Amino acid sequence: MNADGKMRLGAFFNPTGHHVASWRHPRSQADAGINFQHYVEITRTAERAKFDMVFFADNVCVREANMEALSRSAQYIANFEPLTLLSALAAVTTHIGLVATASTSYNEPFHVARKFASIDHISGGRAGWNLVTSGQEAEAKNFGREKHYAHGERYERAREFAEVVTGLWDSWDDDAFVRDKVSGQFFHPEKLHPLNHQGDNFSVRGPLNVPRTPQGRPVIVQAGGSEDMIAVAAEFAEVIFCAPLSLEHAKTFYANLKGRVASYGRDPDQVKIMPGLSCIVGRTAEDAQERYEHLQSLIHPMVAREILAMVLGYVDLSPYSLDDPMPLNLPQSNMSQSTFQNVMDMARKEKLTMKEVALRVAGARGKAVIKGSPQDIADQMEEWFRNDGCDGFNLMPPFLPGGLDDFVELVLPELHRHGLFRTDYEGRTLREHLGLKRPPSRYAVARSETRSAAKRTRAPA
Ligand SMILES: Cc1cc2nc3c(=O)[nH]c(=O)nc-3n(C[C@H](O)[C@H](O)[C@H](O)COP(=O)(O)O)c2cc1C
Repeated sequence: MNADGKMRLGAFFNPTGHHVASWRHPRSQADAGINFQHYVEITRTAERAKFDMVFFADNVCVREANMEALSRSAQYIANFEPLTLLSALAAVTTHIGLVATASTSYNEPFHVARKFASIDHISGGRAGWNLVTSGQEAEAKNFGREKHYAHGERYERAREFAEVVTGLWDSWDDDAFVRDKVSGQFFHPEKLHPLNHQGDNFSVRGPLNVPRTPQGRPVIVQAGGSEDMIAVAAEFAEVIFCAPLSLEHAKTFYANLKGRVASYGRDPDQVKIMPGLSCIVGRTAEDAQERYEHLQSLIHPMVAREILAMVLGYVDLSPYSLDDPMPLNLPQSNMSQSTFQNVMDMARKEKLTMKEVALRVAGARGKAVIKGSPQDIADQMEEWFRNDGCDGFNLMPPFLPGGLDDFVELVLPELHRHGLFRTDYEGRTLREHLGLKRPPSRYAVARSETRSAAKRTRAPA
């Protein structure tokens, strides 16, 4: 729980919403993926509600799937490239944080550093980079590879990638530029730092050709949950997107990750853990149940089966009928490890059929789904928050814009009543919203350490 006792809230925007049948819902924008005004509307709704950030996920592919199923689904099929969208939204908003995914498996660190640094300048300090390693074989095939990187290998690459990006973000000191037209001095040469990185995956001379950003560095977010992911996140991430399906899971993950952060000498309060959460809210619990059943009724069985296979890492489910008990001996794939484990644990614990698991996963691709009255939803969120299950949530509206409007209209007043969420922004930058310090550049740190060491040697014994 954050020192100020307030939750942090992100709005995770999947074009039409996170439920697999969201695009068919009467209150969703079916052409959302390429409808800029739709994104302006929902981002401004989140800003009016004082959310910390909006988040845009990304896959660099159209996933490989049975065409019958794929042609009935809107999930990550056709939508804007997220950083292009982020810079456009920066121009029509003033406070809300702007976070998007960029994969470390199918990008170069110099490009990623430059793009997010530029968005941080354009937005006045509101940029965040969601570091992922990608999880789909289809992504590899768009970048000259037949096979995706193995799980461990892609996280090793991600670790070095993060090291290079943060190094490039420190290329210029805050006060490097003088732009003195009289003397003709544009910047102080001693305040520019080439990186000269030589590593197993990357060799990057630097410096970056974008000045140090308003936030010092854009915020680093990381999504995932496996041991490999935690090893990178504990060293670099400042916000964690994860997918626990129970408070017990959430508390275990929270304690483990905060402990690992401390083992790097970092302050655990400077890392915010925000599980993905999809809320189906009704005016009453019965109303919410009806709304949930309506959404579920829009699911095409082939889509449910395909999304389950995708979430489990494209394991072959064809030998099993949906009415069979969920097969619990499926092989772990090279895709997502934590989501696979969470879903299998849920199926084992609740003895679910494959159909029941598929309909559960349909809600938010294996992330937690809760439904109920505004009070029910606020109480469940408060329970996770007050019991060190999280520092806030990455909200996944089931359908958009309707699902977000419902949350803002019905649940937010409850969170305000409980004193759990801000009623106005504390500052202008994403770091100020999240309560994250502005990091000094490594060169400024080195200089002050040299100075204090010199002082110590000068000081009379
Ligand atoms: C809230 C959330 C958002 C995510 N966003 C993305 C994304 O935008 N792109 C992506 O490739 N993977 C995304 N993922 C998946 C993770 O990057 C990762 O592949 C997955 O969680 C499994 O990680 P693990 O194998 O380390 O357990 C997201 C996961 C979560 C929980």
